[in-house]
Amino acid sequence: MDRYIKVRGMHDILPDDVLKWQFIEKVLTETVKHYGYKEIRTPLVESRSLFERSIGSESDIISKEIYAFKDRKGRDIALRPEGTASVVRAFIESGMCAEKKVFRLYYYGPMFRYDRPQKGRYRQFYQFGIELFGSEHPFFDGEVVTMLHMIVNKLKLQKYYFLVNTLGCLKCKNRYSDIIKEYLSARENYLCDDCKRRIITSPLRILDCKNPDCKQTFSGAPVIGDVLCNDCKEHFKAFEEYLKLNNVPYKVDPYLVRGLDYYTRTVFELYVGGEENAIAAGGRYDKLVQQLGGPDIPAVGFAIGMERLISLVKYSPSQIPFFYLACIGKEAKLKGAIMINELRNEDIAVETDYEEESLSSHLKMANKTGANWCIIIGEDEIKRKEFIVKNMLSGHQITIPFNNYINRIKELLK
Ligand code: HAM
Repeated sequence: MDRYIKVRGMHDILPDDVLKWQFIEKVLTETVKHYGYKEIRTPLVESRSLFERSIGSESDIISKEIYAFKDRKGRDIALRPEGTASVVRAFIESGMCAEKKVFRLYYYGPMFRYDRPQKGRYRQFYQFGIELFGSEHPFFDGEVVTMLHMIVNKLKLQKYYFLVNTLGCLKCKNRYSDIIKEYLSARENYLCDDCKRRIITSPLRILDCKNPDCKQTFSGAPVIGDVLCNDCKEHFKAFEEYLKLNNVPYKVDPYLVRGLDYYTRTVFELYVGGEENAIAAGGRYDKLVQQLGGPDIPAVGFAIGMERLISLVKYSPSQIPFFYLACIGKEAKLKGAIMINELRNEDIAVETDYEEESLSSHLKMANKTGANWCIIIGEDEIKRKEFIVKNMLSGHQITIPFNNYINRIKELLK
């Protein structure tokens, strides 16, 4: 018989881990809801061209990592590698973009990238993301980073910092791109093969290359600050001011450009506990809504990599108290079949094993499952119209009449 194993780069989240995921999901959703974010759910599958146009054909995500295929009608389809493009598509398609106001949306779910699997890098991974549409005010950039900072604090993460930068508006970004192109063309021989190609296709992408030779080569390159227009300078200054006012720890990295093409002005990444991969990242993308066929609406957002976050959070789950139901004999089993559902209907957690026959084997099961109490019903109890409840920790036993028993059980839970 073939034994099946996970597809490379995919991972299961097993029941004990799910408790930790749920705890973190709750912290994330509650925090963003207090900021006014509403959830949006988009499909896992979109047109391939949506991602090409937004993330950029030259990005690693599109050129190397996209899961793309033709459907049965020959349409070019892709599994979403990130959430922003889909949210923007839905924001335009649904008509939400026609309302003149600030929109705050959050999303959560699996993303797919054909990355080389390693620690913190999966081919299916979860992102929790937010997107804020409708204003280019730098305080919104400050607000989203501050919100991420709040999440980090609520999850009690240690040794973290934000890297921030600005890419300038489209004009500044293009001007900077030309300058980088000129600078690196003169040093082309020191670049990796990918970056040699990028000099022509997307010079700024070179600043995102992790190859040590490329890093060394661009380390003396002009920085964006040298070419920013006054508006962009003021924008970044106000963003930094907001972070300072809210005590957000950050460092400016003048070569931070991010791996996706749609960013303009503010970009940022969050690093925790000396990990080399960013836990979360994002930035402003003022022209993407228009570029994807919508009105000229600015936006800013971020996404958290859930697997990376979860690996850093300490959490010991507290289990809800529950009963084990031990029924011995035919009559007791019939009575138990009703009681177990009556209790669950009252949101009282109960487990049982219909197969077990003797009291001792039931008690063993109760211990194994970690039940707080064991409800015992045998032939004698049926005759006396009452049952026993044994505290599994102290061994103390009480009897409760079948009549109006739910309230007595609820008292135990208090
Ligand atoms: P990103 O930097 O590509 O940005 O991804 C955001 C986060 O997703 C990363 O910081 C990382 O934690 C996680 N991540 C990315 N790739 C993987 C992987 N292969 N395995 C595990 N985790 C991964 C975006 O996706 C943008 N859409 C963020 C954004 C939202 N910008 C504006 N709004």
